[in-house]
Amino acid sequence: MSKQVKPFLKWAGGKTQLLSDIEQRFPYAKEETFTFIEPFVGSGAVLFWILNHFPNVQQCIINDINTDLINTYHTIRNDVGALIEQLDVWQSEYHALTLDAERKKAYYYQKRTDFNTKEQPQIQQAALFIFLNRTCFNGLYRVNRSGGFNVPIGSYKTPKICDAPNLKKVSEALQKVIILQGDFKQTLEHAQGNTMFYLDPPYKPLNASSSFNAYAKGEFNDDEQRRLKNFCDTLSEQNHPWILSNSDVNQMEENNFFDELYDDYHINRVLAKRAINSNSAKRGCIHELLITNQAATA
Ligand SMILES: C[S@@+](CC[C@H](N)C(=O)[O-])C[C@H]1O[C@@H](n2cnc3c(N)ncnc32)[C@H](O)[C@@H]1O
Repeated sequence: MSKQVKPFLKWAGGKTQLLSDIEQRFPYAKEETFTFIEPFVGSGAVLFWILNHFPNVQQCIINDINTDLINTYHTIRNDVGALIEQLDVWQSEYHALTLDAERKKAYYYQKRTDFNTKEQPQIQQAALFIFLNRTCFNGLYRVNRSGGFNVPIGSYKTPKICDAPNLKKVSEALQKVIILQGDFKQTLEHAQGNTMFYLDPPYKPLNASSSFNAYAKGEFNDDEQRRLKNFCDTLSEQNHPWILSNSDVNQMEENNFFDELYDDYHINRVLAKRAINSNSAKRGCIHELLITNQAATA
């Protein structure tokens, strides 16, 4: 069995495909000792890559504003056995409905309602979060104005809802991770000595019709992008290396927003395959930005 731990969620903007581009710009070698901070962790593709490949990482700190996501990280770290038990039951029940589309649909929407009441005990709420992520349309996470998860059922026949071996590996790997919930700014106080930040905020939409940044109530608008740039300036003043990803809004229409905002830094354009567009014809390769405050090492 592979020892490698992988993200336990599907997540819009997951960074697995950008790992080699990130690696080329990573400020530390595999044997070095450093602290890693990820203020917008999402499904944690970069976190898990670090945990797999950097044995000497001293401390990892992750953060996200999404309370259900962070509750799920806590639950996997502290109560993985009970979580697996619950997911296993729901997986069997759901798979048993494979040939009964109506009841399967009703089962999904009941779980979605249960999740949105926010009245479940912590372990059930985390299990609901994983269940919905595995069974909803494209693994999207989208909420309405009042914070209710509103993604419809996906068309998977027998989705894997309970990946027990990986959940156990994630639980073990998270033992050395500090897990925070809140605004990205609060992570700065955890920086100490050699500390690098990987920042993957909600992307600025490429254009009005591709708008997709409703991970949480309240959008991550241009003012938020500017506030994040100020945060990056503070990190640079304190000599912390950082890598930030975002969309390349300059490729479809003339828009120099990031080129101007990050004028003082290294702006790299890398190829990415985006999978969050519901129209598969539009899922081709596009550029994304990897911005750093240090020149590439490789
Ligand atoms: C592009 S996703 C991160 C994707 C992640 N790197 C991955 O591999 O799955 C952006 C994340 O930022 C979070 N977020 C939005 N606003 C935030 C804020 N002000 N502070 C911290 N996290 C925030 C969202 O909940 C979402 O999980």
